[in-house]
Amino acid sequence: MGLLITYIKSLLLTESDPLPFVAGDKMSRLSAVDNAWLYLSGGKVVDFGSMQDGRLAEIRETEPGLQEISAEGKLVLPAFCDSHTHLVYAGSREQEYTDKIMGLSYEEIAKRGGGIINSAALLRETPEDELYEQSLARIREILKLGTGAVEIKSGYGLGTEAELKMLRVIRRLRETTPLDVKATFLGAHSFPVEYREDPDRYVDVVVKEMIPAVSEAGLADFIDVFCDRGFFTVPQTERILEAGISHGMRPKIHANELDFSGGIQAGVKYGALSVDHLEFTGEEEIQCLLDSGTMPTLLPGASFFLGLKYAPARKMIEAGLPVALASDFNPGSSPSGNMKLVMSLGCIQMRMLPVEVLHAVTLNTAYAMGLQETHGSICRGKKANVIITREVPGVDYLPYAYGSDLVDTVILNGEVEFRTDLDSNDI
Ligand code: NIG
Ligand code: FE
Repeated sequence: MGLLITYIKSLLLTESDPLPFVAGDKMSRLSAVDNAWLYLSGGKVVDFGSMQDGRLAEIRETEPGLQEISAEGKLVLPAFCDSHTHLVYAGSREQEYTDKIMGLSYEEIAKRGGGIINSAALLRETPEDELYEQSLARIREILKLGTGAVEIKSGYGLGTEAELKMLRVIRRLRETTPLDVKATFLGAHSFPVEYREDPDRYVDVVVKEMIPAVSEAGLADFIDVFCDRGFFTVPQTERILEAGISHGMRPKIHANELDFSGGIQAGVKYGALSVDHLEFTGEEEIQCLLDSGTMPTLLPGASFFLGLKYAPARKMIEAGLPVALASDFNPGSSPSGNMKLVMSLGCIQMRMLPVEVLHAVTLNTAYAMGLQETHGSICRGKKANVIITREVPGVDYLPYAYGSDLVDTVILNGEVEFRTDLDSNDI
């Protein structure tokens, strides 16, 4: 059944000639229709226009029994696309949170066998169904916060069986929830303790055993490597990317979070869809990213939570680059999938404008997960994935009111999946 949303205060991020992403000064130009209507049917955006254009009678006639929602005083925007998460994990790591407050760094915690290794040990002993249930609760949480498409990485298995287990859970989340889910194989997230003395042997396992097994089972769209100081080197990263590419997985990599690691250049060289984190980005890295087709994806939640510096978003935009912002939802460096909070961090900590962050969490993240043709903007023929906000003064209010829950209704595939006044857990 179709759905007609009427009297929308402002319908944000409308497109007639869809762009794959927005870059540079285009990021601050918002296309919107005030006092608008939006017609969704068959799971897609059919049409939109202004309440003054006199076309509603015709639409009501074409589809009798159309459900109508009035959005007076409210904004309608594309559902968030979160192109970088690790939301399949077991348990939590608040002990390390306290360690960090007491002065230990992320790298020091990792060296002590904490961090990713800690999550991997717990994940290995967690039954698959239990892992699914824990992850499903996180999916429900982000759906209510307005996320409609999400990329989820493996990487807490660090062994063939456990990595496959994670990827099967990701596939099950795709099959059982209304979100669009992309899967990324991140076997090269850290070195398991038993390989610490000979890390190249672990790279052998990733290349010769894990990648063929993942590909054989058809469980991953993308391949990722944590290319950074103390983790995987550029030569190790390149070996893994080559193997992933030869098995049909496009790279999307972690780079330059802890140092100028060469990860950005390696990502661009191998045609990565995105390079993510980028706290350490200089002139050379910016030049390398220009016209590359690789989306620079920044994760301000991780900088906030670890107390690290923020990626130079302003410099990137001024150089003409696109910028995407994702949550990095994971137990160690960003235990939150709240994309509206990510928008606020982008504004406050990275000096991005509210309209820039809106593009960065929708269209640009859709591109960073290969979904730009169907997601990320209000465009005829794209998926009917939209958020209706509560009554707000305007678009700038969304990141400004950084602690307020302003999501009133979430519509995915044209179906109302969440409404504040009918809060239920059934998805
Ligand atoms: O993106 N940087 C590497 N991986 C994750 C952190 C994972 C963890 O600490 O559990 C990240 O921040
Ligand atoms: Fe990450």
